[in-house]
This record gives sequence, C-alpha cells and structure tokens, in this order.
Amino acid sequence: MWKKLRPLVRGAYRIFGGLRGFIYDFQRYLRFGGWREDLNDKSLRNYKLAMAYHGLEKSLSFKNRKPNSGWSNAERVYRKLKVANNIMNIGFHDRAGKEVLLQFLNLPANKKTKRADEMINDINKFNFKDDFQNHGSISFNSDDYCKGVLKNPENFFLSRYSLREFQQKNVSPKEIERAIKMAMKTPSVCNRQSWHIYHSSKPEIIKKVLKYQNGNRGFGDQIPELFIIGVDLRAFFVGQEHYQHWIDGGLFSMSLIYTLHSLGIASCALNWSQTPDSDKQLRKVINIDKHHTIIMMLAAGYPNTENKVCSSKRKPIEEIFSQIELK
Ligand SMILES: Cc1cc2nc3c(=O)[nH]c(=O)nc-3n(C[C@H](O)[C@H](O)[C@H](O)COP(=O)(O)O)c2cc1C
Repeated sequence: MWKKLRPLVRGAYRIFGGLRGFIYDFQRYLRFGGWREDLNDKSLRNYKLAMAYHGLEKSLSFKNRKPNSGWSNAERVYRKLKVANNIMNIGFHDRAGKEVLLQFLNLPANKKTKRADEMINDINKFNFKDDFQNHGSISFNSDDYCKGVLKNPENFFLSRYSLREFQQKNVSPKEIERAIKMAMKTPSVCNRQSWHIYHSSKPEIIKKVLKYQNGNRGFGDQIPELFIIGVDLRAFFVGQEHYQHWIDGGLFSMSLIYTLHSLGIASCALNWSQTPDSDKQLRKVINIDKHHTIIMMLAAGYPNTENKVCSSKRKPIEEIFSQIELK
C-alpha cells in the first residue's frame, strides 16, 4: 500500500514546494518588480531608459534604416530625460540615453525637422553631462570580431571543470575586478545590465552564508572567494518578462565562470534553488538588496597542483541537437 502511495505523496510534496516558490516569486514581483511607472525613481527610470534608447541604438546601427523610424523611441527617451533633468538624480542610463538621443536627432534626415530642433535646444540646456563613451552605434569590422577567435577553443572550454577544493590562497581584488569587468560584457535584455555581484573572501562571512546553501557539504569551509549573483527585479516591467531575471542572471553567471577560468581561477556554481524560508533567512544576515533576486552563488579560488574533479561526462550530441523543422 505504502509503496503505491509513496510516489503520490512525494509528487504532492514537490508540487506543494513548487507552489510555495511560485507564490514567493510572485510576491517579490509585486513588491519589487519594475511594473510601476515611476520615472522619479532613479532605478526604475534608468532601466526604462535603457529599453527606450536601446531601440534608438538599434535603429542607428542598421545600414538601410527607414528615414522616419525611431521617433516614438526618441519621444520616450526625451520624456524620461526631462524628468531626470528636473530631479537631477542622474544614473548611467540617463547619461547614455542623452548621448544616443543626440546622435539620433543629429542624423541629417532628422536634423532638418522642427521636432529635432526643439529637442536639441532643450537637451543642450540640461544640467547633466553625457559620459562620452561612444553610445549609439559604432563601426566594428570583421578584424575586430576576429580578435575573439581562440587558437584552440577546445583547450579553453574543455579545461573548465567545477572545482570544489582550492589552494588556500586568495585571489587579488584586482583580478576579481578584472573577471567581473569582462563578465559585464554579457548580453542582457535591451542592455539593461540588471545584475549585481556580491563578494566576500572573509571566512566568517562565507561560513554564515553557506549555512543556508545545500550543495557545499564537504568543501564549504575551504572556499577562498564567494560570489552571490543577484539580479535587480526593477529592471523587468512587462508581464511577460517575469522569468527574464533568471535568464540574464544565468548568462552573467556563466560569463563570470568563464572569465575567471580565462585568468586561471577555478570555480564551482552553488545553486540557489532554495526554499522561500532560506532565502528570507539569508537576507536577514547579509546585505542583499531587497530588489535583488539571488540567481546563484559561486565558489572560486586557484586550483592546487594536483586536483580531483568529477568527470561529469556529457551526453552524445545526437541526444540534444535537432534541426528545426516545420510541422
Ligand atoms: C546553477 C548551478 C548550480 C550548481 N550547484 C551546485 C552545488 O550546489 N554544489 C555543487 O557541488 N555543484 C553545483 N553545481 C556544479 C555542477 O554539479 C557541475 O557544473 C556539473 O556536474 C557539471 O560539471 P562541470 O562543471 O565540472 O563540467 C552547480 C552548477 C550549476 C550550473
């Protein structure tokens, strides 16, 4: 009897756990998601600006752009920049948006229009400066692309293993910054860059954090560097984007694993598929911003000369690869 019931009870328990997780995520979306239309809030405005000016950037990057395209995005950017200028609480995307909009308005076809004239006049009176980082569109030729070609890509990709026992030596802050800066080149939806990386190399903090993580048994006490990768829920406004933070955060995490690997620093992802209770408890002991959803943790450090790793062989490619075909 119990044998028959067991899978049912287990299934029900799992469904209940899933439901609790969904409800918790939904509550967080309600409390912290970017669905509010409050342009006075610097973070909300900046994410919305990124979406609007990215539309302009795309329009500027097409070789054969339609002469009248982009104006609705230009108006959106302009509206948000006016709010930014009024309250003078300026963020990165405010500055970038200003530069992209000016580039758009100064296109020969646009410059002649009355509306461009009005906007340019107004923007030139704004009290905040561009950040002159070449926002908008830039030329990038095939030689530039080819700088990324690796002589032996297999050497790079196939030499990464999750490492769980590290040399007892810290990675310098400079190397950590370098790895994070390179990982920041990760693509993100509309270039919103919603990620936030928390880091510690203090054993007492790492120990406290890992108490709430269930996959570090046997090696958690020897981790030299610990990262927590979070994503800002305010960056996602449209209802359909409710899973986007996991995607953007996952992509960033993978990039960080590879940038660390490129510097000879090994790592092991640590899942944050935890219960709502664990998530709440962790937030009570460390400074995770309430708007940030924790995507995962990452243990990192230098490999020992001799290491043992799980071989974790991959499936045959035929099992995971198909051509897309019409039904
Ligand atoms: C999101 C994610 C979470 C993971 N969580 C854990 C974990 O909690 N503990 C652990 O020891 N390994 C964890 N891993 C590592 C996987 O076990 C490992 O990547 C997988 O077995 C493949 O091995 P490889 O990374 O050496 O190629 C995680 C990996 C990912 C991508």
